[in-house]
Formats: sequence, structure tokens, C-alpha cells
Amino acid sequence: MDNHDHISKYIFEGNLLKILTFPHAVLAKVAEPVTVFDENLRLLCKNMLYTMYRSPGVGLAAPQVGIGLRLFVIDVEYERKKKITSDGKEDYELSNFDPQIFINPKIKKSEGSIVYQEGCLSLPGIYEEVQRSHNIEVEYFNLDGEPKTMRAEDLLSVCIQHENDHLDGIVLLDRLSQLKRNLLKKRLIKQKKVKK
Ligand code: CO
Repeated sequence: MDNHDHISKYIFEGNLLKILTFPHAVLAKVAEPVTVFDENLRLLCKNMLYTMYRSPGVGLAAPQVGIGLRLFVIDVEYERKKKITSDGKEDYELSNFDPQIFINPKIKKSEGSIVYQEGCLSLPGIYEEVQRSHNIEVEYFNLDGEPKTMRAEDLLSVCIQHENDHLDGIVLLDRLSQLKRNLLKKRLIKQKKVKK
């Protein structure tokens, strides 16, 4: 993939960011466009990828780590194997990376429909079927501020639409029926209270 080599080094180094969970206010806010493409942006993306691979998830949007900017990272290709380290701890071996960074994305075309069971790092324990467009065309900027266009289908398309929702303050619960949404929201809030 385009700019793949560029960002592949971000997989192995970085800081684990705290992932905010529902009902954190930042998850319901519309994020602002990125205007400065600098070292700070690079560092943020690097840490977001690092965090995504270890959480593990196939996508992570900036608002999920408390940053109100229009960007997300995705990898729907990588594989994860459980392993036991020499000191007896559980760890994961990751391979086949295809990290992608989408800055100021805009979905231009959407066609067809697909129902996929989605989860979200901000909604622990929730896995629900959501209907989305089957194929999309998305315009975005890469880390160097260059405009790009990508066509995506199936899981990649679903993932881009899910992450793009986060930039508009929408979580997958908002894509469900009101009955289901209310039920799951209550469950999440209860879950959070128990943890504290
Ligand atoms: Co999500």
C-alpha cells in the first residue's frame, strides 16, 4: 500500500494511549479538521497505531483517545497469535501489517449494503450487527499532507465508515434501533460503575 513503508516502523514503538469508553463526552463531539501536518501529528498517529495493535482493534479514531481531530488509523489485515513469553506471561505476536492513516477523510461515494457484526474499543463487550454501504470512495490526506483517494469494500469499507462516524460524534450504538440502543447504553453504564 501507498506510504506503507513510511509508517510500518510505527508498529513496534510508541506509547500506549488511554482509550476512552462510553459515555465519555468527547465520543459524542464533532471533531475538528487537522490543519497542521507536523511532528506532533506524526507522533499522535504513531501512538494511535501502537495502541490499536495492542488493544487489539482494527481501527482507532482520534476522539477515542481524547483528541478532537479528524483522523483515524486502520489495519484490517494483520494477524495476532497468542504466545507465552520466557517469563511465563501471555503476550501476542503480530504479523502481516497494513497500517493506514486517514486524515480529514471524506466519504464521497457509497454503494450497496453490507451487514457486519461490529465491535468498538470504546464500547467494551458490545458486538452488534450494523448495516453500512458495501463499497465506498474516500478522499483523505496522508501524514505528509498529500491528498489521496481510496476505494474500499467489505470489511475495510465497514471499518472506514465506523471510524469516520467517530469523527462526527457517532458510535455504533447510534446506528441501532432505539430499543437496543437504550438497553446497551444502560448495560455499558452499569458495567462502568461496577469497575470503579
Ligand atoms: Co469504534
